[in-house]
Amino acid sequence: MAQNGEIIAMPVPDGAAIEICEVGPRDGFQIEKAIIPTDRKIAIVNELIDAGLKKIQVTSFVSPRAVPQLADAAEVLAGVEKKPGVVLSALVPNAKGAERAAKTQVDIMGLFCSASEAHSLKNVNASIEATLARFPPVVEIAKAAGKRVQGGVATVFGCPFEGEVPPEAVVRIARFYRDLGIVDLNLGDTTGMATPATVKAVLAALRQAVPEMAVTLHFHNTRGVGLANVMVGLSEGITRYDSSIGGLGGCPFAAGATGNICTEDLVYLLQESGYRTGVDLDRLIGVARLTQDVIGRELPGQVMKAGPRLTRHGLDDVSTAAG
Ligand code: HMG
Ligand code: MG
Repeated sequence: MAQNGEIIAMPVPDGAAIEICEVGPRDGFQIEKAIIPTDRKIAIVNELIDAGLKKIQVTSFVSPRAVPQLADAAEVLAGVEKKPGVVLSALVPNAKGAERAAKTQVDIMGLFCSASEAHSLKNVNASIEATLARFPPVVEIAKAAGKRVQGGVATVFGCPFEGEVPPEAVVRIARFYRDLGIVDLNLGDTTGMATPATVKAVLAALRQAVPEMAVTLHFHNTRGVGLANVMVGLSEGITRYDSSIGGLGGCPFAAGATGNICTEDLVYLLQESGYRTGVDLDRLIGVARLTQDVIGRELPGQVMKAGPRLTRHGLDDVSTAAG
């Protein structure tokens, strides 16, 4: 404890294992205009597993009218070859979604609630209060089916409709989850409004209010500071991060949403900083290129274009600057 009563963050030590949850198949595919064929989705998830990712958010059991891109949730999950140690998750907004997810091989049901009223109304057609009221039956269904539950909060670091979101709004939802027996807390930076200062402020507030909860940081790179925010998270002791292959991603119900932090860029940063990820970067870059081919447009990921740090080029690849 510091003198003012604030609990001091313990930085993640060099060499520590960092848990990456790949969310591209959910956060990424949900915002693509074209509906990606089910077999292509399954192939990408299986390649991600082969590249060493141990946690993958595969899809959402939301209304297929709201998000037609993920209407094939059960079929995609049925096609995933889950290897030992691999954990699969899916978003679930209500009891109907939980009933659908319970019949699949998903391990984790991810709840989500916005910390801002305007985004909540847009995203789930309900106020924050009404959204939270949907969750106790989901927890019951998950328990009965032997599934874990993660509590997600969206617009944690700012809302595209309301602007600043006070940390107390996030704390309120976190406490609600904690009181439901959920210890796994996901902090969503829906439209990339997090900054090093706001990350520190929200983590400090949560450390005081719900120190027993394990935090995952879910950054979007909308303003180019996603990986800087990861460095702040590491210095604050956070070992769990969400990211998206190729930098896909974005919430269709949040104005100005763009991609998550990019998985292969995150793996590169972590490995070059001495952390363990368990991921084969070369293989992951191959999956990013495959995903780009399937999506059919250039993705924002940078390491997939430049290659790892010691990628060498032939001397004949460029001309000589002879005067
Ligand atoms: P609603 O229209 O208010 O729902 O939508 P309803 O309960 O009135 O039901 C209307 C119809 O939908 C009914 O069908 C229901 O059965 C059906 P009908 O009787 O008319 O034929 N329905 C469902 N069908 C299948 N699965 C379900 C389901 N629920 C109802 N689960 C609802 C409310 C929440 C369902 C809708 O607004 C919705 O699905 N919203 C999801 C939006 C979404 O997926 N957003 C993106 C994910 S959040 C995000 O990206 C942020 C995040 O990444 C973190 C971050 O970045 O910050 C997680
Ligand atoms: Mg997101």
